[in-house]
Amino acid sequence: MNGFRSLKLSLRFILPLAIAMGLLAYAVVPLVDNLTLRWFVRDMDIRSSLIANTLHEPLVELLQQGNKSRINSLLLRSIQDERLLALGFCSDKGDLLYRTPTFPKSISCSSAINNKVGNQITRLPEGAVHVASHQIATDSGLKGQLILVHDTSFIELRSADTRKYIILLFIVLGLVTSLITVFVAHLSWRGWMDGVRAMLKGEGFLKPFSHQDVNSELQPLVGDLKTLLRSLDAERRLADDSTITWSPETLKILLHKQLVGERIIVVSNREPYIHSKKDGGIEVHRPASGLVTAVEPVMRACSGTWIAHGSGTADRETVDANDRVMVPPDKPEYNLRRIWMSEEEEKGYYYGFANEGLWPLCHIAHVRPIFRTSDWEQYVKINQRFADAVAKEADSDNPVVLVQDYHFALLPGMIRKLLPKATIITFWHIPWPNPESFGICPWREELLKGMLGSTILGFHTPYHCKNFLETVDRYLETRIEHASSTISRRGQFTLVESYPISIQWPPPWQGKVPPVEQTRKEILEKLGLPSDQMLAVGVDRMDYTKGILERFSAVERMLELHPELVGRFTFVQIAAPSRSALEEYQTFEARVHALEKRINARFARDGRPAIILKAEHHEPEEVNRYYRSAQVCMVTSLHDGMNLVAKEYVASRDDERGVLVLSQFTGAAHELHEALIVNPYHVEQTAEALYQGLTMPEYEQQERMRSMRALVSDFNVYRWAGRMLLDAARVRQREKLATRIRRDS
Ligand code: F6P
Repeated sequence: MNGFRSLKLSLRFILPLAIAMGLLAYAVVPLVDNLTLRWFVRDMDIRSSLIANTLHEPLVELLQQGNKSRINSLLLRSIQDERLLALGFCSDKGDLLYRTPTFPKSISCSSAINNKVGNQITRLPEGAVHVASHQIATDSGLKGQLILVHDTSFIELRSADTRKYIILLFIVLGLVTSLITVFVAHLSWRGWMDGVRAMLKGEGFLKPFSHQDVNSELQPLVGDLKTLLRSLDAERRLADDSTITWSPETLKILLHKQLVGERIIVVSNREPYIHSKKDGGIEVHRPASGLVTAVEPVMRACSGTWIAHGSGTADRETVDANDRVMVPPDKPEYNLRRIWMSEEEEKGYYYGFANEGLWPLCHIAHVRPIFRTSDWEQYVKINQRFADAVAKEADSDNPVVLVQDYHFALLPGMIRKLLPKATIITFWHIPWPNPESFGICPWREELLKGMLGSTILGFHTPYHCKNFLETVDRYLETRIEHASSTISRRGQFTLVESYPISIQWPPPWQGKVPPVEQTRKEILEKLGLPSDQMLAVGVDRMDYTKGILERFSAVERMLELHPELVGRFTFVQIAAPSRSALEEYQTFEARVHALEKRINARFARDGRPAIILKAEHHEPEEVNRYYRSAQVCMVTSLHDGMNLVAKEYVASRDDERGVLVLSQFTGAAHELHEALIVNPYHVEQTAEALYQGLTMPEYEQQERMRSMRALVSDFNVYRWAGRMLLDAARVRQREKLATRIRRDS
């Protein structure tokens, strides 16, 4: 195939070259003929005058003597020279007085003397000759012309030889040029093919390829091709984004059409369903986790296997012999494969490296990260355990694996080693810091290398992508293409892209819950508050990044600034216990409780506290009831990848009422522009936003809420997953094409 293309390409060069060579030879040969003839004529002229000068004196002497026989013999002797054909002597009257027998009859004195045939090559019946005349004068007054006739047949022979050599030269030149052309064409073709192949492999389309790899003269063209492919890709993505209404059905269709027959494997630390022992029985609950909130509906739509840490006290009792259990418990749709770890392993991998090291490292919340070698060793060990489980659960050599979060930075690289053809989509649910901040991690290179095992690496925002690219640029030897947001390292290519995570839409409870007013009434009753009590809510894990202390301070400040609300307003904080084995979290929880107490001591009135702190787990349905009851929802994270509480609150308000106060340091703030955006470190500003929310006219609430609901409904979690899977499908397509090209070439 390749050879045939090279031959065709070569012929395209050789044919015009051969024609050009022929034309050149056609023009050059007469020119050379003419030139050599002129040289020969000049030589003959010089020769003739040399012979004439030599003969001049003896001839004059013999002419004066009138000795005819000696004159004839002188002339005869002189033509012994092989080139000199004949000599003759003409009187000044034009009579041929003396002549050698060889003197051509067709040459007369008049024609020779009048230069009709002189000093040039003349073709006579006897052959080609050069005729020259030379003036001879004697003292006795006899004058005449010595006529010298040279045989020039040798000139023709030499011209023919020269012509032959010139033509031969052109043939050799043509052959050599053709060979060089074929060679260069072959090299260029290979260069082209390598370039195109590299692009098809994604190295140009999405992945960069080395400029040294491609002939420099092809660079501009390759650049154009790459730009074209990229713009086509971007256009296609845009078209997908605007035309597809993402739902579980579209996600299913996408999977079956674009990733035919692929089962999805999800890997996360936190499991979507936890079985725990309670009162002699087993109960199941869903954890407080944005990750689970987002990924679970996707998994239900796609089916496949979710691999996660079995952390519940009854988890081992509910799995089969392969450590699998079908979930959701009430309507089984996919497999949950549980991975076990010892207390020591969990302490090092989860509490230590992931949550004392990476968590504070990635969040700018002013808590020092702690890195211990023993934790790192457990982190490596557990990542490998999950990688082995992926290889075991995969039913093909090229599965689609969705790796979730900072617990598994090494996992993509490990899976890549076990399953080189796997499509690995890694999503980092927390922020990515700048290179300087990340650089303090002693194992920064190992983490980055592990992550670059991914086919696609997703963050919530373009800003986190940029930070990641800069970090890789700072600490690893890679090739980064900023325009296409791609990194290639040792033949592995990773697309770094932002995929803002979201929630399921329509929400699961839609059409199944009582009206807002009724829920509000029930919740206020449950809280022991009067029916006209103003309510705001915060829902978080008990985590120092969530800005719970700052939020309480804002509540306090608002009550200071607006004393008319004291006793008429209550802030409900739902705070699910989280990572409570860690000292930092214990201290934080204690501070939250202390602040709540202090504020309530100042502003509680007649059993109506300013703050109700519910530091316990709540199932999603219960959380939803609080959302629907609160006039304001406060999300005041000090730093947050996305924050799905903000989107959940918006989804819960099908009455189009309620106000969202949202920290500018969340990913959600980049999408929910109609929220009241605040800097949680600015207590007065946050307090004012809370007040503004509580007193906002209904029409304004409606406008803001309607707009935010439209956005969340459109940019739902199915789009989040769908866009990643679509990108994965394209990468797989390109890889298949590249493999075919490699095979064919
Ligand atoms: O925000 C990061 C994250 O891992 C989320 O993905 C998840 O919602 C949350 O933390 C839960 O943390 P953990 O699994 O430690 O309880």
